[in-house]
Amino acid sequence: MKVTVIGAGNVGATCANEIINKDLVNELVLVDINEGMVQGKALDLWQTSSILQFDTRVRGVTNDYAATAGSEVIVITSGLPRKPGMSRNDLIATNAKIVKDVTKKAIVHSPQAKIIVVSNPLDVMTYAAYLAANEVVPKRSNEIFGMAGILDTARYKAFIAEELEMSPKSIHAILMGGHGDTMVPLPRYTSVASIPVRELIDEDVLQSIIERTKSGGGEIVKLMGTSAWYAPGAAAAQMVEAIVKDSRRIFPVCAHLNGEYGLEDIYLGVPVILGKKGIEKIIELDLNKEEKELLYGSARSVKEVMIILDDMNLFDQKYGRLNPVPKV
Ligand code: NAI
Ligand code: 2OP
Repeated sequence: MKVTVIGAGNVGATCANEIINKDLVNELVLVDINEGMVQGKALDLWQTSSILQFDTRVRGVTNDYAATAGSEVIVITSGLPRKPGMSRNDLIATNAKIVKDVTKKAIVHSPQAKIIVVSNPLDVMTYAAYLAANEVVPKRSNEIFGMAGILDTARYKAFIAEELEMSPKSIHAILMGGHGDTMVPLPRYTSVASIPVRELIDEDVLQSIIERTKSGGGEIVKLMGTSAWYAPGAAAAQMVEAIVKDSRRIFPVCAHLNGEYGLEDIYLGVPVILGKKGIEKIIELDLNKEEKELLYGSARSVKEVMIILDDMNLFDQKYGRLNPVPKV
């Protein structure tokens, strides 16, 4: 079994490292435009095999998509990351063209692959990958999805664990919506070893954790001058693992909604069952009015970015202005 990671930068190389350390597949191909760097990183990763005890053969290629043929999963991390002062949406002009280009080149050689998009602005880049793949092969939307929710939920859990001085392993949570400042952490669906979080953390502290989670990516950009990679790479690798092992784990994933939650033709973070077919099922929670309002607010923000993508005229199909987000 083969997995391809496109983009061998911070997130792509970290994701590749996580995948090979899980010893999930026979072969991992790293693709980048940066000649030398990608082959060098692949060689370095492969040379950890005897130390870290895995068999996955790692190869690095420059734009050679024939080498990715027959991949079960393709992870797309290529594109610009944020610099301080930039929002994820500022990246669209460059990243949409990159995502379209790499998706089309990769899907020709692996028409059956599940595609995990990581490049930002995440929800709309996932939608771009879906449109691009369908220009090449008929591709169901449950096979193309995005990684953000596992990362955002992991940040939320880390902040809760820190506040409670308890293990993050005991914290379970669901977070929905777009990968941006309008994301929707859901305290009603957050528990610590099955204890509702509100029994353990005061409301004002919980609200400050929610706010910190929403700007969790920006907090790291301010500190480092570029965006995070350890948690994003690990999160994407966890999705690859669920697919190749067909483990049917429940994760928050950026999925194509076709009526779920009353939303049509939009990619947005929702809880799903992830398995070998990709998204096996979208789970519809019984959200209350306040939670639905937050989710729809987030969907409206994503729609605004979809319209920017539509206006770039990269694709014949345009969804941004169709199916406006309903009122609660
Ligand atoms: P990076 O700059 O370290 O790596 C990006 C890589 O993409 C570079 O090696 C570059 O040469 C490569 N690349 C550019 N054009 C390409 C093409 N046409 N084909 C193949 N490779 C190409 O950036 P980093 O930090 O790895 O971030 C990658 C993307 O992931 C960014 O858009 C960033 O915003 C996004 N991101 C998304 C997260 C999420 O939760 N969804 C979390 C963290 C980052
Ligand atoms: C993150 O949340 C920037 O999307 C990236 O770290």
